[in-house]
Parts: sequence; structure tokens; C-alpha cells
Amino acid sequence: MNRLTIPQGTFDLARFPEDPRDPLRAWDAADAYLLRHLADPGTGPVGLAGAVAVLGDRWGALTTALAGHRPVQITDSSLARRATLANLARNGLDADTARLLSSRDTPPDRIDVLLVRVPKSLAFLEDQLHRIAPAVHPGTVVIGTGMVKEIHTSTLKLFERIIGPTRTSLAVGKARLIFCAPDPALPPAPSPWPRRYALPADVGPASGRTVVNHAGIFCADRLDIGTRFFLKHLPVPEGSARVVDLGCGNGVLGLSAAIAAPGAHITFTDESYGAVASAEETFGESAPKGASADFLVGDGLDGLAPGSVDLVLNNPPFHSHLATTGATARRMFTGARTSLRQGGELWVVGNRHLSYHTHLRRIFGNCVTVAGDPKFVVLRAVKR
Ligand SMILES: C[S@@+](CC[C@H](N)C(=O)[O-])C[C@H]1O[C@@H](n2cnc3c(N)ncnc32)[C@H](O)[C@@H]1O
Repeated sequence: MNRLTIPQGTFDLARFPEDPRDPLRAWDAADAYLLRHLADPGTGPVGLAGAVAVLGDRWGALTTALAGHRPVQITDSSLARRATLANLARNGLDADTARLLSSRDTPPDRIDVLLVRVPKSLAFLEDQLHRIAPAVHPGTVVIGTGMVKEIHTSTLKLFERIIGPTRTSLAVGKARLIFCAPDPALPPAPSPWPRRYALPADVGPASGRTVVNHAGIFCADRLDIGTRFFLKHLPVPEGSARVVDLGCGNGVLGLSAAIAAPGAHITFTDESYGAVASAEETFGESAPKGASADFLVGDGLDGLAPGSVDLVLNNPPFHSHLATTGATARRMFTGARTSLRQGGELWVVGNRHLSYHTHLRRIFGNCVTVAGDPKFVVLRAVKR
């Protein structure tokens, strides 16, 4: 946990899940710059009147600091949502001081102050600005914030194209603000997302099937080469196996398992609302008729009973908000061991250099390499 002192007050903030060994803070210079600007009578908007919406708050720092304005938070990340709830509570604020919406929920009808933490994915920003634009009116104050390295000409062009004329501030502490004036003459345009692509012909049972991708999810435009390698080496689940596609993204791994074993039940789970929505649509369009599945938004295997699963398929994430971390992968492996029944298996694909086998051996006591090429390995660990 770290302390943020800004004109709105002093706040104790942490990421979720909180890890005392994690040196990463729950806010950065971009959050602090925006909050200082909002409170500065010389430069900031005059008061924050009306409906305040915060898009893309990373760990709830903005929502917590602005709780007095009863903001609506819109996020794609269930971890960000849980961090926000924990941060509100940590600072003695009721959960209902903020209304928490996911990226897939219908946005509010009217927004008077729109604060945008520029996301890592330009596609996600594009989709969300399209969804929010109808709620913006000529008097809406629109301010974006991000680290200098996260704001590109293409970012500004998006604001310009979807909301209205856009300019940036000077950089302060390697962060920059974006000011955008809504242009009522801009014609409303639908989001070009979700997008679909067909899988190649050489990826086993799911070859040629269509996958659906909401904006910002992992490899939304094309199949990842690691996933492609994994698809070629996936196990065929037994008849009525309970299979989990852990960190499902667009659901391509679980789809392949459902086609190979139509009697299996597949649980698709991801911390991203957009990913789980994508997996559900992929399954609806491309799984065999009568195939059985459920869809969970959450952290790792949260919500699954211990000892209830036969097979877990996992292509773990190794980036968290631009910081590289193997912590999530390790938590996923530990969670998989708990969820698996005795004899159940975890299959993982990873870049060779990530050395997942070391962690699997420590957590499961065993690990074999099922397949490998110069870049990737497919590993199997059995719960004994
Ligand atoms: C490398 S992608 C794999 C996506 C898909 N399975 C594939 O192979 O194309 C990793 C996925 O893990 C998800 N993820 C990250 N952290 C997570 C967490 N704590 N719990 C569940 N899913 C998580 C990401 O949203 C992302 O969709």
C-alpha cells in the first residue's frame, strides 16, 4: 500500500490483489497530474459540476480521490474494479459513492465531466469513445491523462475524430494531459468493434472457425503465434471432462476443446469483461450445437470449486499495465492446482525464456515438455 497526497486529500491506495512484495504503486504521475489540474483554480475547470465519468482508471486512484463527486467508473478490468472497491473502503468511503460500470455495460445517458486515463490499447480507446460519445454534449469537460510514452499522435487523432478538437498540455513529470472540446457537428458513428477473423487451416479442431474479438483484448486482430502453437498440441479432453480455458481472451483454446470433445463442459474465465464477452460470442458462433459452457469474469480460477476440474488450458499473461510481471502466471498455476482433481492436468504454453517449467515443478512437483519450437514450449503438469 502507498500514500497519495494531492489537493483532494491524502489517500492510501493499493493494487489488486495486494502483494506486499509488489513494488508497483496504485497510481502514477498521470493520475496525480490530472487530479492536481482539476483542483487548480488557475487552470482547471471551474468546479466539477454534474455527472462525472472516469474511463480506464487503472487501480481506482482517480475514482477514490474524486469520490466526493460520486463518479461513474467505466473499466474493462475486473481487477481494477476490485482495486477500486478496496481503495474506497481503505479510505473510509462507502462502495456506493462510485457507480462501477464495465466496458460492456451501457454508458450513462449524460456526462458533464469525462476523465479518460489513456489505455494501453488504442482500439479499446476507440471503442469506448464511440460508446460514450452520445452522452457528451457541447458543455462537457473532456480531459485525458497519460504518461508521455502512452500518448501518440494517433491517440489525439482518435479524440479529435470521435469527440472534437483536441490539444495537449506541457509534460509534467513525464505525464501529459489531453484537452478535448466536444463538437456537436460531428456525426455519431458506431464502434467498428467487435471484429471477427477466421482461424487458419492448420490449427487442429478449430481450423477455419470464426473468433469474435472485442476491442483491446489480447490479439484482437490476428491469432497470436504462441496460441497458434498451443492449438496444434492441445490434448483431446475425455468425453465429459470439465475443462477451464484460463485467461480465455477470445476463447479460442476452449473452442478447440469443445469441438474436439463435444460432451465436455468448458468454463471460460478472464479478468477482462471484453475478453469474456468475446469468448461467449465466439462460442455462440463457432462451437458445435449442444456444446456446454459457462463464462466467468474474475481473477484466475475464482469461483471454481477446489478439486472440480479435469483439465486447465492456459496461455498466461506476462504484461500488466506495461510492467512485466510473472506474478499473475504463478498465481494462475497455484490456482489451477487447487481447482484440479487428483490426476487432473494443467497445460501451459509460454515463451521459452519465461521458464514456466521451474514454477510448475515447484507448484506441482512435476512438469513435462509436450512440444517445443525455438520460441515456445507447451508444458504439462499433473496434480498428484
Ligand atoms: C496471453 S492472453 C491469452 C488469451 C487466449 N487464451 C489466447 O491464448 O489467445 C492472457 C489472458 O489472461 C487474462 N488475464 C490477465 N490477468 C488475469 C487474471 N488475474 N485472471 C484471469 N485472467 C487474466 C488477460 O486478460 C488475457 O486475456
